[in-house]
Amino acid sequence: MRDLEKAIEILTNGGTISIPTETVYGLAGRIDSPEAINNIFALKKRPFFDPLIVHVASIEQAKDFTLNWNKTSEILAAKFWPGSLTLILPKHSKVNSMITSGLDTVGVRVPKHPLTLELIKKLNAPIAAPSANFFKKTSPTKASHVENSFPDLFVLNGGECSVGIESTIVHATETQVFILRPGMISKSDIEEVLLEHQINLPVVIKESEIASGHLKHHYMPELPLIVQYGDNLDLSHLPKELLLKPTIFEVQDDPIVVARELYQKLRDFDSNASSIIFKLNSDVLDQESWQGIINRLNKAASYTLSK
Ligand code: TXA
Ligand code: MG
Repeated sequence: MRDLEKAIEILTNGGTISIPTETVYGLAGRIDSPEAINNIFALKKRPFFDPLIVHVASIEQAKDFTLNWNKTSEILAAKFWPGSLTLILPKHSKVNSMITSGLDTVGVRVPKHPLTLELIKKLNAPIAAPSANFFKKTSPTKASHVENSFPDLFVLNGGECSVGIESTIVHATETQVFILRPGMISKSDIEEVLLEHQINLPVVIKESEIASGHLKHHYMPELPLIVQYGDNLDLSHLPKELLLKPTIFEVQDDPIVVARELYQKLRDFDSNASSIIFKLNSDVLDQESWQGIINRLNKAASYTLSK
């Protein structure tokens, strides 16, 4: 049986699988299967107050499960879907409130991965999927990352994720556009399209108090991570044992490459390392294209240092 057919069969029977997306791998179940949704929370050890993102194959399908689209959401979906943008919209009553943790809104996106798009089309049903990692841990960007965490799970292998960090989450209201989680679609990318359409709303980064990524610690690797912005920083207040044998990454690349490799690097420490150190140039702190990466690094870090 082809992997795609196997994936469809498991999902149709109310099972849970892992799916590739361009951002990170997801832990997926059909949105109309309470059993699958329950299993997603159980497998991830995720608290029920943390809502899931619904993945659809088209704007039309998104509209079947959401209500009251405003013009801004229309424009953003038309521009960025399929792609790494999640829109928060009022939910249709047919979306199980377990998916939305009882909220009257739902996060939806059309992922940009041909296998997963084909899967959703063939299933003829949306799939709910958080990232396929244990709660608060590093997200997976390769099938092998998922297999290491969940050896019994069927993983639809779609290769390495091309974006590498989770989607930008946006809630467009009538008066402001909120970025609830920064990602590789940046604030200026969003401002630019809105301006093209003569929409002059302020775009503000305001992390969702609902989103789990909002927790101080999230995306954490297996070893303590120290993130340094700039050189010659004072490390004297750090626990000495962490500095005995750190695995050091000098991060200088293009942000697109850094994002793609970020979660792999967080797993690439030496077996006897005492910690992981990421060294970045302090200039990146002010650059919009780095905000998604900085957000993940700061949450994954045990210590963040800058001048
Ligand atoms: O790129 C992604 O978004 C990946 C791939 C698999 O699509 N998914 C992902 O899901 O990152 P997850 O569950 O790890 O993060 C989704 C975030 C959560 O922190 C959740 O709280 C927030 O989206 N979220 C979901 N529905 C929401 C809502 N109605 N209002 C505010 N935040 C919401
Ligand atoms: Mg996650």
